[in-house]
Amino acid sequence: MDFLLGLLFTLLFVSDSKLVHSVNTTIMDSALLLCRTSEKITDLRNLRFYWQDDRKKVLYSFNKGEEMPGHISDRYLKRVSAFPQDMITGNISVLLNNLTLEDNGRIFEAYTTVFTGSETTILQTTQVCQINLYVTVPYKDIRLAVHTDTMTSVCTVHGGFPAPEIYWTAHHNGSESLVDPRDVHTTTAQDPESLLYTSSSTLHIPAGPHQALTCLCHNPTLNATLNTTYTLSKGAAVWSLPGRSAGLTVAAALLLTALQQL
Ligand SMILES: *[C@@H]1O[C@H](CO)[C@@H](O)[C@H](O)[C@H]1NC(C)=O
Ligand SMILES: *[C@@H]1O[C@H](CO)[C@@H](O)[C@H](O)[C@H]1NC(C)=O
Ligand SMILES: *[C@@H]1O[C@H](CO)[C@@H](O)[C@H](O)[C@H]1NC(C)=O
Ligand SMILES: *[C@@H]1O[C@H](CO)[C@@H](O)[C@H](O)[C@H]1NC(C)=O
Ligand SMILES: *[C@@H]1O[C@H](CO)[C@@H](O)[C@H](O)[C@H]1NC(C)=O
Ligand SMILES: *[C@@H]1O[C@H](CO)[C@@H](O)[C@H](O)[C@H]1NC(C)=O
Repeated sequence: MDFLLGLLFTLLFVSDSKLVHSVNTTIMDSALLLCRTSEKITDLRNLRFYWQDDRKKVLYSFNKGEEMPGHISDRYLKRVSAFPQDMITGNISVLLNNLTLEDNGRIFEAYTTVFTGSETTILQTTQVCQINLYVTVPYKDIRLAVHTDTMTSVCTVHGGFPAPEIYWTAHHNGSESLVDPRDVHTTTAQDPESLLYTSSSTLHIPAGPHQALTCLCHNPTLNATLNTTYTLSKGAAVWSLPGRSAGLTVAAALLLTALQQL
């Protein structure tokens, strides 16, 4: 059951009988839409439940002991499996397979009806769970290039989803501090077909006794950060920049050729 790996599961809040979760997972992976009804089920023939998305497309439908494949939207047909052995305990979770970016941001809701025996009772259908699904394509590679002629450092990532959050840190005397965002210019573009992002962040290397620069790329859905660092080989040195528009100085050129990637 390696679909559970990489699955981040958060309980946001519980209100009345409705449970709201968010599931963050990766493309091609599966998402376990966890849900449990508190109603007592003694016989599966007394249980009716269904899952639908925020466009009211049905993922899964179960009625009185039987699956109802005819009700399922084409979008979800053959991608959803249930756990009949767990239903008697009120566990009406389903597994959504082969996730694509089209599933990203969807909201899934589970509704149940429990028959109590007496045919005259007015039946109530209640929403028991809501799950917000976020699908990511992780960024794999982060590249850093230094341009000595413009005193800039360019960091690029590509082929990921959602848009990355890029930021920089400078290392000085054993401590690391965030680079002023005013020294950074980041552009991000999305491929209209694959929906994947490419992002390029340019840092105007500020003057100062930096020993290294790190570019960090945060994926908000994975809550994971990639990073890459350039280090000066000879400890503390001072990049003196007379001004932003200043051209290349010999000192800066010598220093920057001493940069090396870790
Ligand atoms: C519900 O069933 C699923 C599938 O068997 C299982 O992974 C999950 O832990 C169960 N949840 C509870 C609360 O029993
Ligand atoms: C889901 O993914 C599996 C494994 O990659 C593949 O064998 C299967 O055909 C896919 N199913 C659908 C409905 O795309
Ligand atoms: C570097 O840090 C150490 C303590 O961590 C401090 O004693 C020293 O003065 C610092 N040097 C400079 C140049 O800031
Ligand atoms: C799940 O992804 C959403 C959207 O990117 C994000 O806002 C949320 O913080 C993520 N949750 C976790 C637990 O990482
Ligand atoms: C993201 O991960 C950090 C630890 O790496 C954690 O402190 C933070 O709460 C997480 N954020 C979310 C939204 O889960
Ligand atoms: C940078 O990436 C390395 C793995 O390549 C990781 O061990 C380290 O914790 C990361 N640092 C930060 C600040 O994210």
